Amino acid sequence: MLFEPYKINSMTLPNRIVLPAMVTRLSGEDGFVNKEIHDRYIRFAKGEVGLIVVEAMAIHTAKSGPLLRLSDDKFIPGLRDLAKEIHEISPSKVVPQIIHFLKVARSGWRQKIQDLSIADIKGIIKNYGEAAYRSAECGFDGVELHMAHAYTVSSFLSRKNTRRDEYGGKSIENRMRLMCEVYEEVRRSVGKDFPVGVRFVGEEGIKGGYSTEDSKIIALKMAQLGFDYISVSAGGKFEDAVKKEGEPPYPYTGYSGDKCMPGSQYPDAYNIYLPEAIKKYINANGYNTPIVGAGKISKSSTAEEILENGQADLIGMARALLADPDLPKKIREGREDKVVECIYWNICKGLDEAFKKVTCGLWPKGAVQAPESNDESIPEWETDGKLKAEIKKSAIHLKWETATDDEEIMGYDVFRSENGLDFERIYAVKRPSYQDNTAFSGNSYSYFVRAYDLAGNKSVKSNVAEIRF
Ligand SMILES: Cc1cc2nc3c(=O)[nH]c(=O)nc-3n(C[C@H](O)[C@H](O)[C@H](O)COP(=O)(O)O)c2cc1C
Repeated sequence: MLFEPYKINSMTLPNRIVLPAMVTRLSGEDGFVNKEIHDRYIRFAKGEVGLIVVEAMAIHTAKSGPLLRLSDDKFIPGLRDLAKEIHEISPSKVVPQIIHFLKVARSGWRQKIQDLSIADIKGIIKNYGEAAYRSAECGFDGVELHMAHAYTVSSFLSRKNTRRDEYGGKSIENRMRLMCEVYEEVRRSVGKDFPVGVRFVGEEGIKGGYSTEDSKIIALKMAQLGFDYISVSAGGKFEDAVKKEGEPPYPYTGYSGDKCMPGSQYPDAYNIYLPEAIKKYINANGYNTPIVGAGKISKSSTAEEILENGQADLIGMARALLADPDLPKKIREGREDKVVECIYWNICKGLDEAFKKVTCGLWPKGAVQAPESNDESIPEWETDGKLKAEIKKSAIHLKWETATDDEEIMGYDVFRSENGLDFERIYAVKRPSYQDNTAFSGNSYSYFVRAYDLAGNKSVKSNVAEIRF
């Protein structure tokens, strides 16, 4: 099902893989498309991502470090060229994610939705309408409204919305008012045929925040309004952000940040119960608005299972596509074994937090884009890999020989079998050593490693090292 075309209003996606918006910090503070931004998105298009959601771009002029902008007509030409080129070189569809956010300061102060006057709110609605109109002018296939995480509309939807007027308080009707007015304005600006999607959180992941009991209702309202797709994220709130002296608060540092970008310590498809509950509820109410699920989904088998089970209609893969933008193409061509697999160690998230260029820790040192290679020769071991395992300081330490390649070795996948069960890939490392901290006494472990190069070609398996803890 993953590679079946999928129609959303007037656009048809070539497959059901979505790149959810991912801030890259590659633009300058001026907000224009530059060469690095261009190269990043062209790379996703070459990889045949079904729907590319271009990173959040500001609809207003507030300062925010390096961030794309759609707050003025002057940003149209650069984005128009980008959309045009994506369409020329690939079947991918492309939409921008448009965002309004409030002010935050290094002192830790942040503007709250309670501080906004009715005139401010009307201004936000107008900004959304204008930016959506510009999205169409740019030649994008649609537009996605950012109503997730720590940002303005999401804060209105939140259970933490303590406004006392018609835009807040305990009633969900009031909390959804801004979302409704933004939608109506955007639809007026772009017409009924232009796909308008939305991203929001299925669960806030903070104490006192909402869960699926509210998000089901919010999603049903979104479907009833006429949104063309609903992308379900999680968490990413300021309320539990860790305070760092002299740094503006970053809404992905607390548990809600883990919910949003689950790291290697969480299971695959960690948040899938959110789109599942939402989809079930809106379907039962007679709406079939496509639902995008995301959160540690990287394998085609997981994606297919989600689609088969009806847990989501479209599969979001953010960090997996950052690690290897060619992932969709490789899977389509039956070359999934050549995918460079994300290990969810969140180097990318740390870079975003520090306002540094967002790259992937698996890429060669210093690379600003994913390596591009069509090489087909596989990395070689000098002998059999010379993999050795030993117990040191309550963990299993692995060491092996350096592999060679006609291009460059990018890393090593580490596979493990526990007590004779099937081997599973447990991690990837750049250097030929690894410490397995998840092994524990009384159990038997077997390991092998495979080296991979820039194209994702994998070496044969090394020797198997067996050890009883
Ligand atoms: C570096 C980085 C930047 C992100 N920027 C955005 C963003 O601009 N808008 C958004 O809705 N989500 C953003 N996200 C969240 C992702 O879209 C996605 O929901 C999350 O990473 C979980 O999906 P994954 O497990 O496939 O990576 C970002 C995530 C990362 C790692």
